[in-house]
Order: sequence, then structure tokens, then C-alpha cells
Amino acid sequence: MSEKPIFLQALQGQKTARPPVWLMRQAGRYLPEYRALRERYSFFERCENPELACEITLQPVRRLGVDAAILFSDILVVPKAMGMQVELVENQGPILPNPIRNKTDLERVHIVDARGELSYVLQGIRYVKSELPSSVSLLGFAGAPWTILCYMVQGRGSRGFELAKQWCFQEPKLARSLLEMITDSTIDYLLAQIEAGADAVQLFDSWAGVWDKENFETLILPYTKRIIEAVVAKAPCIIFARGACFSLETLQKTGATALGLDWQTPAKFARKITQNKVVLQGNLDPSCLFLPPQDLQNLVRKMCADFGAQNYIANLGHGILPNTPVEQAQIFVNTIKEYGECKQ
Ligand code: CP3
Repeated sequence: MSEKPIFLQALQGQKTARPPVWLMRQAGRYLPEYRALRERYSFFERCENPELACEITLQPVRRLGVDAAILFSDILVVPKAMGMQVELVENQGPILPNPIRNKTDLERVHIVDARGELSYVLQGIRYVKSELPSSVSLLGFAGAPWTILCYMVQGRGSRGFELAKQWCFQEPKLARSLLEMITDSTIDYLLAQIEAGADAVQLFDSWAGVWDKENFETLILPYTKRIIEAVVAKAPCIIFARGACFSLETLQKTGATALGLDWQTPAKFARKITQNKVVLQGNLDPSCLFLPPQDLQNLVRKMCADFGAQNYIANLGHGILPNTPVEQAQIFVNTIKEYGECKQ
């Protein structure tokens, strides 16, 4: 098949017979084949071994028939490569035992040379590319600078990342230096991913929503924008800024190819704000995958109708939950794939 994959067609604003579909966190614990590998290898072993990362990346492609694979890795490989200790603790999530709080701490980290320090990720991309059907695209990714700073400064997950926010106000110079370092690292990393074979990339700003519009747009977004500008010349770039639907217009102005929406953003609202001029991705509430099958199908069809089937990539509005029944994820994917057929 020499035709361009449907995921890239949609990203590039071309007409497609149906929306393409993939799921955030599609490689993960809801898959029995992932849980089997999880018993034998630690989280960072799974990330840092290119053969394992490749295998895990392909699992949801084989199982669900999604239109895009997202490389199995984590946004926290970047702070790790910058020189920080990062652990994933069962039931606690990520822990960075020596967080950054002062100038001396900041001197412990460096800008990443992705081709050297993250070469295992790039090798994983090459393996996936060589095994992926040509109809399926490969998505690379990274965390946006603010979300990475959150973990580097707070040292662990948090609801509101208050400590990280306070630090930005108390130590604005240090905060700017850290954001700069993450930005430079991320540009190098994403360009290297594209060079290795990623067809498109997504930036995860999972903690954008802890800010108000004004501070988000002045303190945070300029760094993300710099990454988008550097990357979008080489490959399509999706920005997922969770909880920041107040900034959709400004996010559109970053020049991102597509905006990823969280599940709290109404489809019609997003279309209106962006004047139908940008590709949108999202945004079913992952909890809706627990609805009875018929209700789930109806909701998925309504989502497609609300977004409109063009300039649209179907997805969840955040990561799939670990206890989601695989059959329900399959219904989600199948309903999208059948969407063009049952309409009109
Ligand atoms: O989407 C995919 O399938 C690709 C892989 C991927 C992972 N993490 C694998 C993972 C991606 C794109 C991420 C991004 C990521 N990681 C984000 C941004 C997206 C989001 O969810 O908001 C964030 C904030 C992280 C940091 C992180 N990594 C957290 C908070 C956790 C613990 C929460 C959890 O789900 O257990 C992780 C661990 C992690 N990253 C797992 C997976 C599959 C779970 C590891 C396991 O227990 O097996």
C-alpha cells in the first residue's frame, strides 16, 4: 500500500474516509500482554531496552488495530538524561529523590545530547519503524517544559504542583534557566526522534491546567512554542495541554499542527474558538470506557459528530485507565473505524 497513512492524512488536513484513531497511554497495564512483561522487567528496564520498548509499542497496534503507534517510553526519561535520579515506585508514581530547589541543585543538571544520552529511545524508534505496517504511523513524544519542571522541582506527582508554582515565583531566574535547559533538551530530543523515524510528535503538557490563563501564556507557553516552532518544520506536532482550554486560541497560534483536547473541553466549543482552522484530537473521558457497550458506541458516535469527521483525530481526553477492559477499548476503536460507513 503506497497511500499515505490515514493518521498523517488527517494531521495534514487532508480529507479522510473516517477519523483516524489511537489512545493516549495505549501501551499499558490494561493489556494482559503488557502486564506479563511488567512482571519480569522494571519500568525503566522496559523503557531503556529498545527491543522491549519496541515490543510494548506494537502490542496495542496488534491487539486493537489503532492507526498510530506511540513509542513506549516516558516523559521522565528527559530529566533522567539531564542527570536526575528518577524512580517509579509502585502505587506512588514517579519519585525524584533529589529535586531541584536552588542554584547548586540546578548545577547538577545539563542539557541533553539526545543522540548520545537517549540513543536507546532512538534505537527503539528504528525497531518499531521496521516492524510497523506502512498504514500505521509512529508518534514520538516528550513532556512540555512546564510539566517536566513540575516533576524536577516537586520531586513527585501532585494534584496542583503548588511547590513547583511557588518556586517559579520565588526563584524566577532559576525557573527560567531550568525551563530553557528543558526546552533545548526537548528540541534536540524530538528532532532526533523524527530523524530516527517518528512520523509526528506529541508534546504532553499534562499540568498546564494548574495555571491561570495569564501566567500560563506568559511564563510557560513561550517555551513550548519555541519547541513547536523548531519541530513543526520537520514533522507534524500535536500539543496536548491538559486543563488549558482557556488558552485554545493562543495554543493555536503556536503553529502546532493539531491541538489535543482533554475530556473537559466541549468539542463544539473547541471548534468555535479555533474557527475550524486546526486539526483537533480527543477527547472521550477515559471513564466512559466503563459504560455498557451500546452506550459507549452512541457516545463515541456523538463525539465524532460533534467534532465533525474531518480535521479530526479520535482519541481519549487523557490516558486510558489501567483497569479498563480490553474489549471496551476495542469497541472504542471499532466504532471510530466504522464511523464513515454508518454515516449517510
Ligand atoms: O501513551 C503511550 O502508550 C506511550 C507511553 C507513555 C507512558 N507515559 C508510559 C507509562 C506516555 C506517552 C507517557 C507520558 C507521561 N508520563 C505523562 C504525560 C501524559 C499524562 O498521562 O498526563 C506523564 C505525566 C508521565 C509521568 C508518569 N509516568 C506518571 C505520572 C506515571 C505513573 C502513573 C501510572 O500510570 O502508573 C508514569 C508511569 C507510566 N508511564 C506507566 C506507563 C505505561 C505505568 C507504568 C507501569 O506501572 O507499568
